[in-house]
Amino acid sequence: MFLPILMHTFVWESMDMLKELEQLKSDFKTSLSKAATKTHLLELKSVYLGKKGKLSSILKGLKEMGPKERKTLGQKSNEYKREIETALSKKMEALEVFEIDEKLKKTGVDPTYRESLFDLGLMEAGLHPVTLVQREVEDIFLSMGLDILDGPHIEDDYHNFEALNIPADHPARDMQDTFWFKDLKHLLRTHTSTIQIRGMKMQRPPFKFVGPGKVFRSERTDASHEMVFHQLEGMMVDKDLSVANLIYFMKTLLTEVFGKETEVRLRPGFFPFVEPGFELDIRCQVCHGKGCRVCKQSGWVELLPCGMVHPNVLRFGRIDPSVYNGFAFGLGLDRLVMMKYGIDDIRHIHGGDLRFISQFRMY
Ligand code: PHE
Repeated sequence: MFLPILMHTFVWESMDMLKELEQLKSDFKTSLSKAATKTHLLELKSVYLGKKGKLSSILKGLKEMGPKERKTLGQKSNEYKREIETALSKKMEALEVFEIDEKLKKTGVDPTYRESLFDLGLMEAGLHPVTLVQREVEDIFLSMGLDILDGPHIEDDYHNFEALNIPADHPARDMQDTFWFKDLKHLLRTHTSTIQIRGMKMQRPPFKFVGPGKVFRSERTDASHEMVFHQLEGMMVDKDLSVANLIYFMKTLLTEVFGKETEVRLRPGFFPFVEPGFELDIRCQVCHGKGCRVCKQSGWVELLPCGMVHPNVLRFGRIDPSVYNGFAFGLGLDRLVMMKYGIDDIRHIHGGDLRFISQFRMY
């Protein structure tokens, strides 16, 4: 007997509530159009959407509703809530842009200049240590008259192996270490020596260039090994170059980077694209030769594999090895960063921890 009456009340009440919601929406619109500061907007947010705000107090009535009404009204109020939120954040953004514009007008600075953004207090960032060291090394080589070249991360077998005198059946071509694409034709370059091949295509001797970049190896990581790291390739081709020229370049570079003469040692090293090949090691700057996990207790760190360019590689670059010769090196940039700053684990470098990165704030 009571049921029809109750239903009736629900319908009435739900219509009231709908009206209230509509009212809330239009009130909000009016207040939003009047809000002129970010503080106003925050106030509006709490007045309309806060725990004790207008929407919540209307929604209190929902408890008394029948399931059907509760559902429709619930959906409606969610919809309005979202609309209000979006409107608020849009206006917030617009106000922020406006504030920045006003500031810029007052200071008269050009925001396309990095320094100007600092003036405005808008940018507080630094360069990654690898970028810092890479730029430093590039500057040194630029001052020595070398060009800076680039190459792609995704390479083919030809540039990564074949043209570097590493034929398909060569033991140095360890499949395990290479990230191959499914087509088995493309790969993530395992070294920047690919840039030697690309550089020879672009230039006729004599030439000299460096090519920095990321390289990828499917290796087990430890304190001195990462799967993604950075190298800086160097190549110089001319007539009558010798190992002495190579050593001079390497020594000059290291002296500049460390600001003093550093202890190095040269050992024979095997790479199919150089003959003779060397490993240039540097005294471990983390433990100063005492032995630590970076240098695997040896006191020395492999930093600069290098050698005289193999005649076959020159031939691949359409350069006559009976007229020209050259040297090449592959500087380990992350290791150089570690040695320069005394960092004891390569994994810090790309771990993304801001506490680590922010110690290198240089602009
Ligand atoms: N590409 C070699 C490597 O990644 C390093 C290297 C470069 C050696 C140039 C000799 C000459 O291990």
